[in-house]
Amino acid sequence: VAWKNRKVVLASRPDGYPKPANFELLEEDIDGPRHGEVVVESRWLSLDPYQRGRMSQTASYAPPLEIGETMPGGVVGRVVATESPALSIGDWVEGLLGWQEFHRGPASSLRRLDPTMAPPRAALGVLGIPGLTAWFGLTEIGRPRPGDTVVVSAASGAVGQVVGQLAKMSGCRVIGIAGSVDKLEYLTGELGFDAAVSRREENFAATLREACPAGVDVYFDNVGGPVSEAVFANLATRARVVVCGRISQVNLSQSDGAPRNDQFLIVKEACMEGFLLQRFGPHFDAARARLSQLIAADAIRYREDITEGIERAPEAFIGMLSGQNRGKALVRLGGG
Ligand SMILES: NC(=O)c1ccc[n+]([C@@H]2O[C@H](COP(=O)([O-])OP(=O)(O)OC[C@H]3O[C@@H](n4cnc5c(N)ncnc54)[C@H](OP(=O)(O)O)[C@@H]3O)[C@@H](O)[C@H]2O)c1
Repeated sequence: VAWKNRKVVLASRPDGYPKPANFELLEEDIDGPRHGEVVVESRWLSLDPYQRGRMSQTASYAPPLEIGETMPGGVVGRVVATESPALSIGDWVEGLLGWQEFHRGPASSLRRLDPTMAPPRAALGVLGIPGLTAWFGLTEIGRPRPGDTVVVSAASGAVGQVVGQLAKMSGCRVIGIAGSVDKLEYLTGELGFDAAVSRREENFAATLREACPAGVDVYFDNVGGPVSEAVFANLATRARVVVCGRISQVNLSQSDGAPRNDQFLIVKEACMEGFLLQRFGPHFDAARARLSQLIAADAIRYREDITEGIERAPEAFIGMLSGQNRGKALVRLGGG
């Protein structure tokens, strides 16, 4: 048996924001599984900011992608053939299978999902990397206390929307920063944030200052750059800055150097700490269980931004990098 696979590979390295020409859609045949292997049919593909980093020549915490290599990404799919006792045909699984419709590989590299607990695609969003990043970044690094003012950037995105709701649950005053009016409405309306500020507004810095008169105790930073520079100017004494992501910098050929006002760390005796989610791996299951309870109780809500078809993955990815996504960016490859 063989499967016709379609996959998106890196065709050339982007200079600045990626363009459709940096990607190529290729077809190949995939053979049946060998001993210990399964074939997975992809149903959902996750689009994440780290994938942009992998397209560049400079290595970060993961090596750069080679030209011609399949774009990396989390996938939720179903087993369609198996030579492993660990997985049966029809099982839902999650793994780093990349931007492609089929995958053959060892069963041991996949995590089996229970579709009765949550929709399988949640394993890429609120119960996956973004949800876990929000959970551990906020609770372990940000350590919010009741009454704290918490600011989160890229607040309506996959990570940010969970951060803000968890901070509300900790009794904090929560301010979200996002890039459009409808996102601000989502944050204060649907998610119960206390205030939301547009990073694109002309008076952004002044509006932000008005929104946090007592200063910022916890800044969950998804973006870096000028947005973070504006937040730094409002840090409260002994503030915690959670350095989660730097999406404002990934598409620049040269860093804009912001935030340049890190003297506030001294004046406010503040702490700035970065983290990689992998550190908390041993505690993922416990965090997923807690997040599942909160979702079931409607204490955590989330949005997903769904694009149809592998051929549209590049355009959806480019859109996400410039803020066009409304919630967790996913590509539906078969759904379910
Ligand atoms: N440390 C870790 O282990 C870890 C793990 C997972 C994710 N992350 C990081 O978490 C961050 C959020 O990831 P996500 O998956 O939740 O993505 P996301 O927030 O769903 O999507 C990215 C958002 O970034 C914002 N953005 C884009 N360009 C920007 C710019 N120049 N300045 C300010 N904001 C900009 C846009 O929102 P607006 O237009 O609304 O501002 C866009 O919607 C990323 O930086 C990612 O790298 C870190």
